[in-house]
Amino acid sequence: MKATALAHPNIALVKYWGKRDEALILPHQSSLSLTLSPLSVTTTVEFGVSSDQVELNGHTAKGSERERVLRALETVRAEAGGKLGPARMVSRGDFPASAGLASSAAGFAALAVAARAAAGLPADPKAASVLARRGSGSACRSVQGGFCEWRRGERADGADSYAVQRFDEKHWPELRMVVAILNRDEKEVKSRDGMKHTVDTSPYYEAWARDAEVEVPRAVEIIQRKDLEALGELSERNAWRMHATAFAANPPLCYMHPNTLGLIQHLREQRKKGIPVWFTLDAGPNPVLLTDAAHEVAAEALARACGAVDVVRCVPGGDATLKSEHLF
Ligand code: DP6
Repeated sequence: MKATALAHPNIALVKYWGKRDEALILPHQSSLSLTLSPLSVTTTVEFGVSSDQVELNGHTAKGSERERVLRALETVRAEAGGKLGPARMVSRGDFPASAGLASSAAGFAALAVAARAAAGLPADPKAASVLARRGSGSACRSVQGGFCEWRRGERADGADSYAVQRFDEKHWPELRMVVAILNRDEKEVKSRDGMKHTVDTSPYYEAWARDAEVEVPRAVEIIQRKDLEALGELSERNAWRMHATAFAANPPLCYMHPNTLGLIQHLREQRKKGIPVWFTLDAGPNPVLLTDAAHEVAAEALARACGAVDVVRCVPGGDATLKSEHLF
């Protein structure tokens, strides 16, 4: 009745931005990501305790955070036959507070794998991905390691909207992602609200969704042949296009800071000098640089030269896994 799992965050190279179903968390378009090590979240779930308890990073979760976790646990109870009783969930991330990456993706992936195991359900990456998706969309891509593709799916109930691994973490071990923390402030508009606002008001939204859908198979083909320059170019244009839809929302939504643009400009100059480094950018000011092992030190140095207050170097990460040591 008790199980613990560890999962890594992921960074999207073709982003998810916009839902066609808010309640089920169904996206308008497919997306593709790389799972990142060494950052991780560990989660323990136990069923059959006296009352539901949700603890995140040492704090009792409240409001919508608690609701999202309890909903996921309820889904597991229903699948297991309903007689598991209340649950205790404790989750801890090893992210530096300033990592600039959402811990919710790793958190819901770890929760999905741990809760299913605690309920006695069989290991099933597809079912765990669907469950993680219902907590936070991008979490469905953290159940497995390496490069994962979240297929939008067609069904209204979301049963065919989950992530599949296209290449594992050993496929391209020299690839590096360097997170450049330019600003530690909490963002004003969360991804969830920002994407809804974009879907509702941006005249570019339809074009964005159509384009992202066709970029996914292109990215898969590029990753297959391990072409860093082609992947860098694709990642940059996808990030620009996601941000362009947000700029065009009404009122406009801009996640970039002046030094975000400064760093992006600097990358262009460095590439002219032969340093292979590109960026991607989620809904915040902190770019993630894409490079190879031979240039990760150079990538860190140029991020710092452009004002990064912290830098986190990441390598391709593996699957969410069950652990024998529990958090309580
Ligand atoms: C810009 O998965 O955090 O990072 O589904 O509402 O929980 P919800 O949103 P979330 O959004 C991630 C948006 C993104 C792009 C991506 O990771 O694909």
